[in-house]
Amino acid sequence: MLILGIETSCDETSAAVVKDGKEIVSSIILSQNTLHGEFGGVVPEIACRAHLEAITGIIDNALVDAKIQLKEIDAIAVVNTPGLIGSLLIGVTAAKSLSMILDVPLIAIDHLHAHIYANNLEYNDIPYPAISLVVSGGHTILFLSESETRHIPLGWTIDDAAGEAFDKVAKILGLGYPGGPIIDRLAKYGNQYAVPFPRAYLEKDSLDFSFSGLKTAVLYYCEGQNARPSKATTSGNQEVADIAASFQEAVVDVLVEKTFLASRIYNVLGILTGGGVAANSRLRQKLKDKSKELAIPVYYPSALLCTDNAAMVAGLAYKKYLGGDISTLDIEAVP
Ligand code: KG4
Ligand code: ZN
Repeated sequence: MLILGIETSCDETSAAVVKDGKEIVSSIILSQNTLHGEFGGVVPEIACRAHLEAITGIIDNALVDAKIQLKEIDAIAVVNTPGLIGSLLIGVTAAKSLSMILDVPLIAIDHLHAHIYANNLEYNDIPYPAISLVVSGGHTILFLSESETRHIPLGWTIDDAAGEAFDKVAKILGLGYPGGPIIDRLAKYGNQYAVPFPRAYLEKDSLDFSFSGLKTAVLYYCEGQNARPSKATTSGNQEVADIAASFQEAVVDVLVEKTFLASRIYNVLGILTGGGVAANSRLRQKLKDKSKELAIPVYYPSALLCTDNAAMVAGLAYKKYLGGDISTLDIEAVP
């Protein structure tokens, strides 16, 4: 079964053709990073317009790459929640139109569940129940995953998402956008113990997250509470690398601690990760170390499947289709 997936929830316009929920026949991802870079974050109005300009071409490219024609598609899958409303609407409208014209099923997909499914595209041996950590620019959330399609939220961020903190700290340090991959690379040259930034574990056994205090701590460290000239911009690269590494370590410590706490509380058989921040090399390393220590397998998608892509959307749609979970043409985009 060939499913065409469409993803436009944030700032990537993506279309992919996936066979039987597993084989990525084609996957096209157009990033809007250069459009949002100068603002240090996604500008919803710009994102929506860029999706509108790109969507038909991206779908076309996905079909050309897959060497198939539109009429060979068996179903259309689209992310309809959560995300930026204007951005979601472009994908949802395209998907509804295609489903109607081709007379094939339409399958609405939750973006966060798709991030988790990215693991299933690459591994066959995932045990359930599992804890799934989705860490992206817009979300930081722990799920109890009972199957490939059933995910129960356990805890989430009460303020900034982890990726948002990476992006904002990169902006403070004058490093560019998106900040996550830049901080990841730079931190390799820094000392993670240089600055003791705070870790917000919240109350005992809490599975919620908070990163805004950490972001403010970095801001104060760099600029001082009285807005003195930025240390980061007046000091050499080594100090910037040390701040980046210390910040990253604080984020990673909290993510790892809470993920394994959830795995103990729910006595699960595995841990899944997904979302852009799941590409972070330090996070992967620390999860791997703890996974060995506690003998519980941790899965993470390859870097290209961590960030937003439509292959994970088309993949998950196949499982939903098999379960009879098909949408009607009145689905809405829900931010
Ligand atoms: O999943 P994603 O592509 O989009 C959302 O659904 O938000 O995630 C994008 C986020 C950005 O905040 C970006 O800075 C972060 O993921 N990110 C990373 C890394 N690669 C991307 N954060 C830390 N380390 C990375 N290697
Ligand atoms: Zn995402």
